[in-house]
Order: sequence, then C-alpha cells, then structure tokens
Amino acid sequence: MGKQARAIVELSLKDLVKDLNKAYADEWLAFYLYWYMAQVVSGKSYEDMQEFLNKLAKDELEHVQEVANLIIKLGGLPIANPMELEKNANAPYMMPPKNTSDINRIIRIVLEAEAGAIEVYNKIAKKTLGKDNVTYQLVTHILSEEVDHEEMFENLSER
Ligand SMILES: [Fe+2]
Ligand SMILES: [Fe+2]
Repeated sequence: MGKQARAIVELSLKDLVKDLNKAYADEWLAFYLYWYMAQVVSGKSYEDMQEFLNKLAKDELEHVQEVANLIIKLGGLPIANPMELEKNANAPYMMPPKNTSDINRIIRIVLEAEAGAIEVYNKIAKKTLGKDNVTYQLVTHILSEEVDHEEMFENLSER
C-alpha cells in the first residue's frame, strides 16, 4: 500500500489487520469444517449434502485468499502458524457430528457458522464504511456470499 492509499484510511491499520486476521482464521476453520463434513457425510441423501458442503468449502477457501490479500495490501501479514488459527478465530471450532448421517445436525452447524460470519463481516463493514473503502468493498462482497450460504442451508432445513 502506497503513501496516499495509507493516508486516506481513517482507521488504525493495525486494528484493521487484527480484525481481518480473526476473520481469516474463521474462514480457515469454516473451510476445514465444511470440507471435512463433505468427505465423511453418509446416509440416504449424502450425495446432495456432499455437493452443497463442497460448494461452501470452495467459497470459504476463496474468502481465505481474498482476506489474506487484503491483509497484505494493508501492510500486515496473515497468521503464519496453523496452531494460531483457532486461538485467533471469533468462534471456537465446531466439531462435526460423530454420526456422519446426521444431516440435520450438519445443517445446524453450518447455519451457526454462517450466522457468525455474517455478524463478523457486518461489523467490519460498519466500521469501515466511508473510512476504508477498499476494505469495505471486499467485506461486503464476502458478506453477501455468506448471506447466500445461510439462505441455501435454511432452505435445506425446511425440506
Ligand atoms: Fe467465508
Ligand atoms: Fe460461508
């Protein structure tokens, strides 16, 4: 980030990088959780669930990359040590159900994770609105995808 780009940010870049590193940790945990559940899901309609979870996992991995790039752009570094990811996340890692065919439990876990992500990105969007337009643009883009994820799984739970 150049001199003028830094000068127009009306927030502490250090705080912003900290918030974004927490979101970065959340994204890795969400990716891993969804990817894992997609591998192990079993039971009657497992193929559909596997497809939905893989789609979400792919999106979360994209978010990991987008948030990492933004952190670097702001002059920070994304968390280097995977052991630090859960410690820095906004919410603890949710364990996948032991019963791999418990589709309802999988849906509830995804809905809880997505609700958390929506809250986190909405908070960062409010904080950066008009103060750091570059961050605002990226977090609202991610926010809108998390909103889609929630809707997708809410529709599944109403079947
Ligand atoms: Fe995400
Ligand atoms: Fe998501």
